[in-house]
Amino acid sequence: MKKLLVTGGCGFIGSNFIHHLISTGNYEVINLDALTYAGNLENLADLEDNSGYSFVRGRIEDEELVSAIMKKVDAVVHFAAESHVDRSIHDASPFITTNVMGTQVLLDCFRRADRPEKFIHISTDEVYGSLGPDEPPFREEDPLRPNSPYAASKASSDLLVRASWKTYGTPVIITRCSNNYGPYQFPEKLIPLMSINVMEGRKLPLYGDGQNVRDWIHVSDHCEAIMQVLERGKPGEIYNLGGNCEMSNLQVIRTILGFLGSSESLIEYVDDRLGHDRRYAMDISKVGNCLGWSPSISFEQGIQDTIRWYEANRPWWERILSGAYKGYYLQHYGEQI
Ligand code: NAD
Ligand code: DAU
Repeated sequence: MKKLLVTGGCGFIGSNFIHHLISTGNYEVINLDALTYAGNLENLADLEDNSGYSFVRGRIEDEELVSAIMKKVDAVVHFAAESHVDRSIHDASPFITTNVMGTQVLLDCFRRADRPEKFIHISTDEVYGSLGPDEPPFREEDPLRPNSPYAASKASSDLLVRASWKTYGTPVIITRCSNNYGPYQFPEKLIPLMSINVMEGRKLPLYGDGQNVRDWIHVSDHCEAIMQVLERGKPGEIYNLGGNCEMSNLQVIRTILGFLGSSESLIEYVDDRLGHDRRYAMDISKVGNCLGWSPSISFEQGIQDTIRWYEANRPWWERILSGAYKGYYLQHYGEQI
């Protein structure tokens, strides 16, 4: 049985990944998470009594804590990050602390610990910048041209990961994935925000002309890709991941409205995001050729399942909107966040 350190496991993708890992029966997991606004212990409430799972509340920048954990694990999957572009435009500093400095602390502790065999750094397509309508999808060797403070902080962390490989031979792998959607996504991001707003009859704030394009992947497909990279990926490599599913924001919102049977009059065009990237698209041929992975969930199916999940799990998001989700830690661990 391998023991993994998963950072940021109380967030959207991290919690889906931990569920995925535990369901294989092949891994034990230590989840290190600071429980920022985006971290929700309720995402993993079903694993609380699972002997293969343990939770440590702490920050990845805490060198003493990270060093102690690193001695106990065989590999690291690093999700922890400040992840929302709009927040980074408002204030970049937490993004530098966590995404840049925190990643360096993890790399240093990993290297000194000797025991762990692989460090998987979860990065994003946003490090490549923005594409014009006719440009080919991003490839792994493309230059990094991040445009938002969030993307710049992720690109910086990618460079630190690369430097650790080049300088010390640390067995690192970088994955860069496109926009995820699915259960447990914090309702500040496009798909959960718009789905909940439709259910509540609230307006849908669409930035700019609504024609910005994202490549959507269901979070389960992303988690399966990370499993393949963890088990068979080659140290020193970068793998692009994506859903082969480019859609404009307007198309996504129309799909949600159509599924929930609501009117387009809910759409409200609002001021554009500053520096708003126009289009992302990923060339995922490398991971297909090297590891045999490709996405399997169609957007049509994935979005229906996702909207049904948000309909069926109303208490989950209502507790986020009211702030009650923060009380879970106090109830179970006796401390205030
Ligand atoms: P999220 O915001 O939902 O979760 C982030 C988690 O990290 C939270 O649980 C939070 O408490 C934790 N965290 C934040 N700062 C921390 C710190 N200093 N120490 C310890 N824990 C900390 O994010 P997500 O959407 O699940 O994204 C996870 C990772 O995947 C990020 O690295 C992100 O850049 C990357 N990514 C996300 C997407 C996407 O579409 N969501 C796509 C590609 C890559
Ligand atoms: O591409 C991968 C990235 O996807 C990840 O690295 C990020 O962590 C993740 O947050 C996501 O970034 P985006 O900025 O693409 O996602 P977001 O859900 O914030 O926005 C998606 C698109 O929808 C974007 O073009 C902005 C637009 N949008 C978003 C919100 C929240 C709106 O039009 N209105 C909104 O209210």
